[in-house]
This record gives sequence, structure tokens and C-alpha cells, in this order.
Amino acid sequence: MAESWVIMVTAQTPTNIAVIKYWGKRDEKLILPVNDSISVTLDPVHLCTTTTVAVSPSFAQDRMWLNGKEISLSGGRYQNCLREIRARACDVEDKERGIKISKKDWEKLHVHIASYNNFPTAAGLASSAAGFACLVFALAKLMNAKEDHSELSAIARQGSGSACRSLFGGFVKWKMGKVEDGSDSLAVQVVDEKHWDDLVIIIAVVSSRQKETSSTTGMRETVETSLLLQHRAKEIVPKRIVQMEESIKNRNFASFAHLTCADSNQFHAVCMDTCPPIFYMNDTSHRIISCVEKWNRSVGTPQVAYTFDAGPNAVLIAHNRKAAAQLLQKLLFYFPPNSDTELNSYVLGDKSILKDAGIEDLKDVEALPPPPEIKDAPRYKGDVSYFICTRPGRGPVLLSDESQALLSPETGLPK
Ligand code: ADE
Repeated sequence: MAESWVIMVTAQTPTNIAVIKYWGKRDEKLILPVNDSISVTLDPVHLCTTTTVAVSPSFAQDRMWLNGKEISLSGGRYQNCLREIRARACDVEDKERGIKISKKDWEKLHVHIASYNNFPTAAGLASSAAGFACLVFALAKLMNAKEDHSELSAIARQGSGSACRSLFGGFVKWKMGKVEDGSDSLAVQVVDEKHWDDLVIIIAVVSSRQKETSSTTGMRETVETSLLLQHRAKEIVPKRIVQMEESIKNRNFASFAHLTCADSNQFHAVCMDTCPPIFYMNDTSHRIISCVEKWNRSVGTPQVAYTFDAGPNAVLIAHNRKAAAQLLQKLLFYFPPNSDTELNSYVLGDKSILKDAGIEDLKDVEALPPPPEIKDAPRYKGDVSYFICTRPGRGPVLLSDESQALLSPETGLPK
């Protein structure tokens, strides 16, 4: 009979949102970008992936379950991550249980992987970034790989480009790198999550009827057809990266907000410069931009920055709690929930922002005054699915409590 022991590791990894965007690959296979990018890591308390990886001599093949459903690991992206971590595996010993795995055993042993996203995978919230970062981090710990977080980020990058930025908390830069094998295309931390801890992030998950162009396809078409992308990558982004790092280090919100909004808008301009043009934002996204722009202008100094990825969801970064509470009032005025939705399931995450905004129930939402900076402000009931209030957060962690594992320690199958 086959030996029956199982060794497991469970990790939790955050998602991230780019404030200087990644759009366009110079190498599709290695996932090498045409420019540097910078992101903010989102608090894993509200948005994260948890992944358990297990090894046992009784496993007949590599298997993976995503949100409880078995998925195929045959795709190149998963195979890249598994191959690269296996190549770096070291000896592992559990003295108490008398288990020894030598470096060369890892080539023959199979793994089971179970991964769970604490937010809807289909909501367009960069689940593959948190997912591949967590997979690589957990496998590296299981196989006792000695690489640091930056070196692991270059492996996670080969699963999903933006995953490399989820190996750190706070603000993170993905350096595009120069060398052909991609070994210098990796993430480094700009500042940790404590550096700028008064920022508040509100995500508006916008209902969308259309299936968007996938990022992979969109990027390829942009690289093939957009002259604006060439100008952006060579002339604009290198300068913006320097300015953005300065703004973050100096906590200069005015400069940070200006760069974040400008870069999001240029990313969407590059999408429109693609042949055929790609539209990721919709009317609701445009209304949110207009709301933020008008408010910032009326105050005279930026209160909130907006950024949009390859979809209609808005990520809004408020200077502080006061600005966040005011922003939430405005958003709930424009986008009240449908009458069958409870406030508790409409505003998710850090509910204390709702309290700061003086909103306790749907009657308070109904009674909100129109924002004074807009004349005859209309309301768009039901155009936002829900809001998530969060903040900048930490990088990957190991979860040592066995109760948090997604696989059974006896069988190595999903619990
Ligand atoms: N894609 C979306 N979510 C994922 C996850 N948790 N792991 C791997 N790939 C994913």
C-alpha cells in the first residue's frame, strides 16, 4: 500500500489595483510588460485568496479545486508556476512524524491545490492576481524554496502578470526588466501598508451586461495596432513612475490623485486607440468619473482619485476617512440600491465608513441631499451592484491554524 502521510501549507494573499497601469506585453509567453507599473495592495480582510497546497505519496496526479469546483491544471500558466517552483524545491523534514522529502523527490511527488476567493470571482476584481500570487507563495513554502518575495514575484508573473505585485503589501512597483529570459521583470515594495494608512478605498462593483474583451486579447490587439501605446510606454510612463514613487513616499495626495486619474484615463484612451476599439467603461463608470471630477474641482484640492481596470468597476481612493464618508454619501445619492436590497449587503467591507457618513438604514439613503456641486442631480437606482470599503493592506501570510486549511489533513481532498 502507498504511504499515507499528507503535508500541507495554507496561505492568504491580497489582490491589488494598479495606479500606473500595466497594458501590453513585449513577450507573451514569459509575460513581460512594455512598461513599469505601480499598484496599491488591497486589505486581505476584505479581498483575498486563501490557498492550501498539499503533498502526499498517495496522490496520483496534480489536482486543483477553485472555489470548491475541480479545474484543469493543464493550462500553460499553471504549468509555468508548478515547473518553476519545483525547480527550486529543497529538502523538507517533519521530524515529529518521521517524514523526509529530499530535493529530488519533488520531481515525482504530486500536489493537491484548493483555492478560495473571498469575493465573487466574476466581479472583475483581479482574482487571478491574488490567485497566482497565493499559489506560488504557498507552493514555495511547501517545497521549502529559499527565494525571497521579489524572486517569487517573477514566478507568479508567469501565471498572471499583475500577480507579481500581490507578493507585497502597501505600494508596489513591477519593474519591466530588460533581459530576455525575464529574470529581472519582478516586483519590489515601494512603501509598506503602514506608510500611508489614512487612505480609504471604495470599490463600486458596476453591473455589466456585456462580456468584456479579456485582458490577454485586449493587450495583444493594442500592441499590434495602437501607436498611442508606443508613445505611452516609451515617453509617458517612465516619467510618471518617477513622479508616482515621489508622491507616494511624500504622501502627496494632490499629485498622487492627479497621476492616478490621468493614467487610468490614458489606459482607456489606448484601448480606444486599438483597432477595433475596446470599451471597458460604461455609462455608470463615466458618471462616477464626472461625480469625482466635479467634487474635486469644487473643493479646489483633490479629495478622491479614481482608477478603472479592464471592466466598468470604479476603484476610488479617498485622501482620508472624512473624504471617504463624504464620497460614500455622494455615491449612495447617485446609485441607491434596488428596493429589495438591504444596506448591509449593499455596502460591504469596512462598515465604519457608513457610520461616519451618518447612514444607518435605507431611509437615510433615501433622505440624502443632492451633492451641491451638481445641478438637478438625477439618481440611478440599481446601476451599481454593491460597494466594498477597504484600505491599503498587507502582503502574503501563512495561516498556521489547521482549521483554516481548505484540504483535509487525512485525505488531502477538499474539506
Ligand atoms: N483565478 C481566479 N481566482 C483564482 C485563484 N484563486 N487561483 C488561481 N487562479 C484563479
